[in-house]
Amino acid sequence: MPLSRAATRVAVRSPGEAADYRRVLKQAMQSHQAGDLDAAEHRYREVLELRAGQPDAMHYLGVLCHQRGRSDEGVRLIEAALKITPKHPDAHNNLGNIHKECGRLAEAERCYRKALKCGSLHYNAQNNLAVVLEAQERVEEAFQAYAKLLQQAPKFAQGYYLMGRFLRNYAQSKEHVEQSAQCFRTAYELDPRNLRALESLGMSLYTLNRIGEAVQVYRDWVAREPDHPVPRHMLAACGGAQAPTRAADDYVREVFDAFADSFDEQLLKNLGYRAPEILAEALGGMLPGAAGEFEILDAGCGTGLCEPLLRPYAKRLVGVDLSGGMIEKARLRGGYDELDVAELTAYLRAHPAAYDIVFSADTLEYFGDLEEVLDAAHAALRQHGWLAFTVEAAQGEDDRVDLSPSGRYQHTRHHVERALSSAGFSRKSIGTDTLRKEGGQPVTGWVVLAQRAGQG
Ligand SMILES: C[S@@+](CC[C@H](N)C(=O)[O-])C[C@H]1O[C@@H](n2cnc3c(N)ncnc32)[C@H](O)[C@@H]1O
Repeated sequence: MPLSRAATRVAVRSPGEAADYRRVLKQAMQSHQAGDLDAAEHRYREVLELRAGQPDAMHYLGVLCHQRGRSDEGVRLIEAALKITPKHPDAHNNLGNIHKECGRLAEAERCYRKALKCGSLHYNAQNNLAVVLEAQERVEEAFQAYAKLLQQAPKFAQGYYLMGRFLRNYAQSKEHVEQSAQCFRTAYELDPRNLRALESLGMSLYTLNRIGEAVQVYRDWVAREPDHPVPRHMLAACGGAQAPTRAADDYVREVFDAFADSFDEQLLKNLGYRAPEILAEALGGMLPGAAGEFEILDAGCGTGLCEPLLRPYAKRLVGVDLSGGMIEKARLRGGYDELDVAELTAYLRAHPAAYDIVFSADTLEYFGDLEEVLDAAHAALRQHGWLAFTVEAAQGEDDRVDLSPSGRYQHTRHHVERALSSAGFSRKSIGTDTLRKEGGQPVTGWVVLAQRAGQG
């Protein structure tokens, strides 16, 4: 029997050893799927000892290395696997995912295209190709790629969800928002576990001013799942229930754990997110220089987009966030000295006079009345320390907080000023800028700097 090309490149073993490596590989994959990464890594390596160069073990170990923050090693392993099995669409697709998550969008695109060449009906690769084209702002190509996906896979719920999101992000007319609502509805009908589709459906309906329908979507959802934090929060956001004083912890966790994988791409590429840069620039204007001398808390650090902007100022940089999923992404950056999963107000209270700077980009939008959290931030600052934060702006001269249909709170300038004063901040500056886009429209925010006085 002639040896296959792949077999000529791996060490040839006896049939007994072959059976052994297959058993260990199966165990490794089971551990991997169960999230036991230590056991999985150990077993993949055992497979590679039993059978050097085994391509599946190298491929999956590569995925695992990336999950553990060793992305370069992951890339090397999958590339090595692909030298042995160059027509493996999943390996090309997974290699693309690593490049995408590391921000190498052109490389990711190349990998997805190779995956599609190996098996043109690889829905995940087609889906990923569309996402990466969208992230490169190649809007027409992205639209064609999503359309092709839906044509090839008319029962693929995630494809409808992404097309709906794309149409809403790039809506140029009411018709696009209507189509987005239809896509979200179909995504949910095809996969009732896709709750983000349901949440998005409510938001599109609200955008279309079909408020009664939006409220009904969330009401039905609450009736089905009374303990689910998302419909409870969103029902209040549409005016169908009383707004909570701040977004509940379980709501924040649910939303951001689910958002962690796509947050950077969605915010930076699709929503023109600028809050970290704007805030860092404003703060930089108040500081003597980037001399690495401050203890800094990145409050609501998310995936760590602020880390590279804060690092030059930091002697020690700590990140805190309620969402474990977001914190895991921040950990992959490797730039924080400490990362903690915790609720922000409680965390600030537990660290009195601990920081020179508390920096919070786009996080206090999840708080209604700001008084309590600003009071806690004041207590967590050292004398002369700076608090820097952005919040979405509500219009009007009164002291008011609105929970908007996006699920985020908006504060009037008067409210921000009053909450800062009652927390005890002495010096304050409140600027205004565009933080990002929503439904194609700019979102205006307050860019706030406040200093704790030298005494007390
Ligand atoms: C829009 S993201 C911003 C993340 C990051 N600051 C940035 O600019 O990329 C908001 C973050 O605030 C976190 N968050 C919201 N409410 C929180 C709370 N009460 N305690 C801690 N984190 C919270 C969310 O989990 C999320 O990661």
